[in-house]
Amino acid sequence: MKTIVAPSLLSCDFSRIKEEAEYLNESAAQWFHLDVMDGVFVPNISFGLPIIEAFRKHTEKTLDVHAMIAKPDDFIQDFKSAGADILTVHYEACTHLHRTIDAIKQTGMKAGVALNPHTPVSVLTEIIHDLDMVLIMSVNPGFGGQKFIPHTYSKVRYLRSLIDQVEQEILIEVDGGVNLENAPILVKEGVDVLVAGSTIYKSEDPKETIVKLGGG
Ligand code: DX5
Ligand code: ZN
Repeated sequence: MKTIVAPSLLSCDFSRIKEEAEYLNESAAQWFHLDVMDGVFVPNISFGLPIIEAFRKHTEKTLDVHAMIAKPDDFIQDFKSAGADILTVHYEACTHLHRTIDAIKQTGMKAGVALNPHTPVSVLTEIIHDLDMVLIMSVNPGFGGQKFIPHTYSKVRYLRSLIDQVEQEILIEVDGGVNLENAPILVKEGVDVLVAGSTIYKSEDPKETIVKLGGG
């Protein structure tokens, strides 16, 4: 499978949403990654539903919403209505994860679960077959521009073997500190979706960087 590159819009210029969307529409990025933060689950506030809606108006590409919020269950239908295609919730925020995943799928969205760096992949053993995607956080969530945690490689390797056992298409996404050096290693370990903020938006030619990361 070809690597999916999902630029993290946390690093874009929100005064130019239309232009930012149009730029990515013409790029090799397959998905748009949207980081919703509530200042409770993570020590930062980013943006919410109106921004997702705004991007939805300007793209047909997949909107990949990463909910870093304490109560994702309360907003599942709202994310769907705003235009999300994939909703990823944090394992650490969901007491009744099975119910949450079920509710996400009921809306027609794809369901993902994100794991913080300290959370072992093994917590997913009994629910992996219900998921469309697992997001391995390679930094502590909350901010762009942080340093990649190398232990991520072994988590990806373990997750790959878990998914291979269930023989279903479940995507592996990695988010945080992804750059041109670690991207090929992650892909080799079995990652399907690379999220990148700073690496893309701080580069001289973001479109070219998306291609270098493997997009297209
Ligand atoms: C961090 C977010 C990431 C972030 C990635 O909590 O989930 O999506 O925007 O940014 P970089 O690629 O700069 O680490
Ligand atoms: Zn993210």
